[in-house]
Amino acid sequence: MNVGIVGIGNCAASLVQGVAYYRARPGESTGLSRRSCAGLDIADIRFTAAFDVNTAKIGRDLADAIEVAPNNALRLADLEPTGVRVREGALADGIGTSLSGRFDTRGDATADAIAAHLVETGTEVVVNFVPVGSQRAAETYAAAALAAGCAFVNCMPAVIARSPQWADRFAAAGVPLIGDDLTSQFGSTLVHHALVGALRANGVHLDSTYQLNSGGNMDFLNMRDPDRLATKQETKTRGFGGSEHTASHVGMDYVPFLQDRKIAFIRVAGVGFAGTPVEVDLRMSVEDSPSGAGNVCDAVRYAKALMAAGQPDAAAVSALLMKAPPRAFAPGEAQEALDALLDDSAAEVAA
Ligand SMILES: NC(=O)c1ccc[n+]([C@@H]2O[C@H](COP(=O)([O-])OP(=O)(O)OC[C@H]3O[C@@H](n4cnc5c(N)ncnc54)[C@H](O)[C@@H]3O)[C@@H](O)[C@H]2O)c1
Repeated sequence: MNVGIVGIGNCAASLVQGVAYYRARPGESTGLSRRSCAGLDIADIRFTAAFDVNTAKIGRDLADAIEVAPNNALRLADLEPTGVRVREGALADGIGTSLSGRFDTRGDATADAIAAHLVETGTEVVVNFVPVGSQRAAETYAAAALAAGCAFVNCMPAVIARSPQWADRFAAAGVPLIGDDLTSQFGSTLVHHALVGALRANGVHLDSTYQLNSGGNMDFLNMRDPDRLATKQETKTRGFGGSEHTASHVGMDYVPFLQDRKIAFIRVAGVGFAGTPVEVDLRMSVEDSPSGAGNVCDAVRYAKALMAAGQPDAAAVSALLMKAPPRAFAPGEAQEALDALLDDSAAEVAA
């Protein structure tokens, strides 16, 4: 299956190297939620198109571009050239005040030119990894994907999948739209959500909670800009199940020497049996970009399978894998709905 990537930063590096890692180890499933997903092996994922606006990445083979600074994700595999050259993208609002000046940019491509390249390369699914706060850039790539008949997986907080207008446009074209803002396979949102769920399921009233994250990659530097951070705070709060009855706070701090390691402190405090206090304080540490790549591998395979089945409604995939999906499902319901959809279609998915 053919995947295009927008934003060749740390997440793209972990995705491309991670697929190569598993391709070199047939049958290995440690670290994956699913080796095979919707009838496709992880090794069936091929990269066919790549876009960025950093002039040091444009024109390079994808295998080299993912090594260019300021990328600093842990190397997962040594790659042969992929044959995919990074193309100039559409800059729009891609680079905010915190990132500007860190590298030279060029980004005059139109949505039509991007769509034409997606068609030429036979790309079927587009993964959007532009920086937090880049609403206009995300919309340009969504429009290009739509024009090219590609599914779109929005891994950042821009309002795309949860916008009724975009949802209608993709539905009318019969193409899956998955988003918004990826949930990492094992990250602070998942752990926070599990803690909040355990307290609520056991009758504890949650009074207050916070999630303080720090890391030294460009995603954290970008979120020094308060307007950009606000969009992430919104999707993160939705992701862990924050409600208006709970005082909550999400913090993000850029600590350069942490590189791509993310350290999160999570606190939940509430009221238990007979008004007695309950508190949990937790510290977790993960490699930030690899922890997201596994769920992207699932999202693109579900997108391809839904297209093959003629079932473009991807709401269940978004509920499973994204922090801010267009609609919520009860626990377990999204996976059941998706399994039923794909089983019923009995469509053969050609890799
Ligand atoms: N585990 C995770 O790391 C994780 C989880 C959930 C969501 N995300 C989101 O995924 C996105 C990517 O994260 P990252 O760590 O790879 O960030 P990054 O800063 O390393 O990479 C972003 C890339 O996008 C490029 N870019 C900027 N504007 C662009 C434009 N208009 N067109 C094309 N390319 C453009 C940059 O040059 C850079 O190469 C972020 O929005 C992040 O919040 C990441």
